[in-house]
Amino acid sequence: MTLGHDTRRLLAGPTLDGDPERYPAHIARLGALRAGAADRDIIGSLEASGLLGRGGAGFPVGRKWRALADRGGKSSAVVVANGAEGEPASHKDRILMAHRPHLVIDGAILAAEAIGADEIVFYVGREHEAALSAMKSAIAERKADLGRRAKLVQAPLGYVAGEATAVVNAINTGKGKPTTVPPRVSERGVGKKPTLVQNVESLAYAALIARYGDAWYRTAGRLGSKGTALVTVSGAVKDAGVWEIELGTPVGEVAEEAGATVARTRAVLLGGYFGTWANASDAWALPMDPATMKSAGLAFGCGLLWLLPTASCGVWATAQIMEYLADASAAQCGPCLFGLRAIADANTRLAAGRPTAGDLALIERLIPQTVGRGACHHPDGAVQLMASALHVFGEDFAHHARTGVCLVTSTPTGVR
Ligand SMILES: Cc1cc2nc3c(=O)[nH]c(=O)nc-3n(C[C@H](O)[C@H](O)[C@H](O)COP(=O)(O)O)c2cc1C
Ligand code: SF4
Repeated sequence: MTLGHDTRRLLAGPTLDGDPERYPAHIARLGALRAGAADRDIIGSLEASGLLGRGGAGFPVGRKWRALADRGGKSSAVVVANGAEGEPASHKDRILMAHRPHLVIDGAILAAEAIGADEIVFYVGREHEAALSAMKSAIAERKADLGRRAKLVQAPLGYVAGEATAVVNAINTGKGKPTTVPPRVSERGVGKKPTLVQNVESLAYAALIARYGDAWYRTAGRLGSKGTALVTVSGAVKDAGVWEIELGTPVGEVAEEAGATVARTRAVLLGGYFGTWANASDAWALPMDPATMKSAGLAFGCGLLWLLPTASCGVWATAQIMEYLADASAAQCGPCLFGLRAIADANTRLAAGRPTAGDLALIERLIPQTVGRGACHHPDGAVQLMASALHVFGEDFAHHARTGVCLVTSTPTGVR
């Protein structure tokens, strides 16, 4: 984690204290947006940078901008900066907006110019008070500069309110529930216009790449990975917080920077509630990088690293997450109403020391039946997490199912 000296980064170090960066300070630190960007083919730069979206799915940012820029016809478009961050264990977007609001605005302006958008919507989780206030003040400071209509919309509470179709639905109707696709939001989104929904961290990196170029972005990175990313580190650590890391930094190094040790860590949750569990000893040397993690069957997701302490019950920890995800669903499609709910209930019965015969088999059967059947990817992410739990905590699940008692804590509930 060697970025502390480089001031041309998003955060450059651990969680910042203090006020949001005002516009004059932003310009003094990074230079004006137009200085480098005017002559640069920003979409080409983004493609060459390899920057992947940071909202969870990891879709290439340049390819997304290119698709919208190349759309047929002359219809105007909308850019949405997605700062909903409903993921309970993630803090990176709210920290970014609260401290570096002008980078998010820079990225949104660039995106709007690149795809021909006449409107920008900053969509910020209503519970993220510091981020809301910083974005509001920053938008006011940039009124003359935005060059198009811009507004701040408070995202409704809830995990699914940050999903792209729910984002558009919330802006159009106030309801933060996903809608069935097609048409895709890139064809018909906010105000029925083609809409680019982009995570706020993705936009902030686009603003740096526009200034300093793709080659600069790629100078950072470890073990063959290129670029940097924000990660939220929490759980069994001394100093929970948000860090900007070089991609490819090993999980263990990031965790140790936050005060964790492998000896005190049983497992790590990677990527978020839609991510994957991994044994701490297996994951410690793993480079944090979307491609490497994907090839290992793991998830970079929204850059989350949550550590489960030793002598903790994986069945219980997973039950908390599955209950949250089942409750967070919009409960409007079969896989969430039936599959996800039934999986969470069975996991909770197992964790609470009151398993019914067949609970484990039920979970195993429902996982493949739930994937790919919802209007959005909410159930897919949730069962991916569940499948990884069965893999990593397989013995614990079997012991809970067989005996009604936790293997690790020797209590029926998995909690000492
Ligand atoms: C249930 C669910 C919740 C999501 N929540 C967020 C969110 O809070 N913020 C976000 O940027 N993306 C979220 N996403 C991903 C968005 O649908 C979308 O892919 C993303 O905003 C695109 O930006 P990116 O390409 O920069 O990652 C969520 C997806 C799902 C399925
Ligand atoms: S899959 Fe689940 S979260 Fe997604 S729209 Fe359907 S009910 Fe809602």
